[in-house]
Amino acid sequence: MRVLVIGNGGREHAICWLIRERAPAAELYCAPGSPGTGECAESVAIDVSDIEGLRRFAAGRGIDLTVVGPELPLSLGIVDAFRERGLRIFGPSRAAARLESSKVFAKEFMQRHGVPTSEFVVAGDRDTARRAAARFGLPAVLKADGLAAGKGVLIVSSPEELEAALDIFFVDRRFGAAGARVLIEPFVLGEEVSFIGLCDGRRVLPLATSKDYKRIGDDDTGPNTGGMGAHSPAGIVTREQVKAIMTDVMERTVAGMAADGTPFSGVLYAGLMMTPDGPRVLEFNVRLGDPEAQALLLRLEEDPVDLFAAGADGDFGRSTLAFRPGASACLVLANRGYPGRAASGDPIEGIEEAREHEGVVVFHAGAGRRDGQVIAAGGRVLNVCAVGGDLSQALARAYGAAARIHWPARAMRSDIGRRVLETGEVLL
Ligand code: GLY
Repeated sequence: MRVLVIGNGGREHAICWLIRERAPAAELYCAPGSPGTGECAESVAIDVSDIEGLRRFAAGRGIDLTVVGPELPLSLGIVDAFRERGLRIFGPSRAAARLESSKVFAKEFMQRHGVPTSEFVVAGDRDTARRAAARFGLPAVLKADGLAAGKGVLIVSSPEELEAALDIFFVDRRFGAAGARVLIEPFVLGEEVSFIGLCDGRRVLPLATSKDYKRIGDDDTGPNTGGMGAHSPAGIVTREQVKAIMTDVMERTVAGMAADGTPFSGVLYAGLMMTPDGPRVLEFNVRLGDPEAQALLLRLEEDPVDLFAAGADGDFGRSTLAFRPGASACLVLANRGYPGRAASGDPIEGIEEAREHEGVVVFHAGAGRRDGQVIAAGGRVLNVCAVGGDLSQALARAYGAAARIHWPARAMRSDIGRRVLETGEVLL
């Protein structure tokens, strides 16, 4: 089986790693890949946005299955392009990927199909945005309609912050066309949970629960990031809540997409706020979460090649997935300055020592290589992950291993999972 994984982050390193572990005979390629994915797959120097180049490579090399990591190629229609040529690929069509590529589309879809989410207003100008904020009260949440690499969400708590945020969208145009329309929503209080399912167009195979930590600073302070750490299970949802998430969010969404003529296959990720009135969808993504995937894939006891191929063929032929009991955790080691521009280029020490710790796996995200040495090239640099008998052990192992890794500009949250452990009883 020849498999192509598209992407170059920590999530794609985790996908390639799992394929190597579970399907060692697979001939594995990763485009464009990274020094991390290069440990388990052959790198192919084609950018994730070069859909025609990727299609030519897959056709020419006789690729049997393509797995897409990031959202950009999905939003550009890679699945449609591959399917036109009879190439097997696991992911949503361009039309279905609008659940992530347009926040306005996703909200209107949820409203139409009764998927629980908060009220919203779509604003293309300051006055509409101000009126919406006045109606919802502060704090309010402002979201760029289009893709913004996890940085398009701004929470404003005062009129001054609201005006500054509106400058970012409408004057500085930091998010370009993606920020020309802005969603305004009330701020929903509660604990965030990530719920991810694999979809074959009709059904949803739920993954274990997970939780990520989006703010840069301890105690959820500072700006939003792509995610600074994650663990599985989320530890804060009950079995009944999982059932409600499956019926009210996941299955209703897949049924709604099919009814609208845009059936959803691929990975459906619901970012949820757990409120006293039930789960509320904050956002949909159409790919595995990063860093949730790194934690989840460490626990997945399945052959991912079989699984993704069955999903691409439109029938998983089963209704559950096996996960390793216990827990897993993933810590993101970033360059100081992230989520702003951050690329110290410092050499990194201690990765191999960290990997010697029991239960620990280290994935490369924005790590590069210079003169044979691994360097801190991007914003989020490394993912230090661990499995454990329970959440407390998984987190302790990950923090123990992360302490071995050094570079001058290293930044890391020190409270991943702490609040969940402090609640006493760790749930699903
Ligand atoms: N960790 C959040 C995301 O992948 O969008």
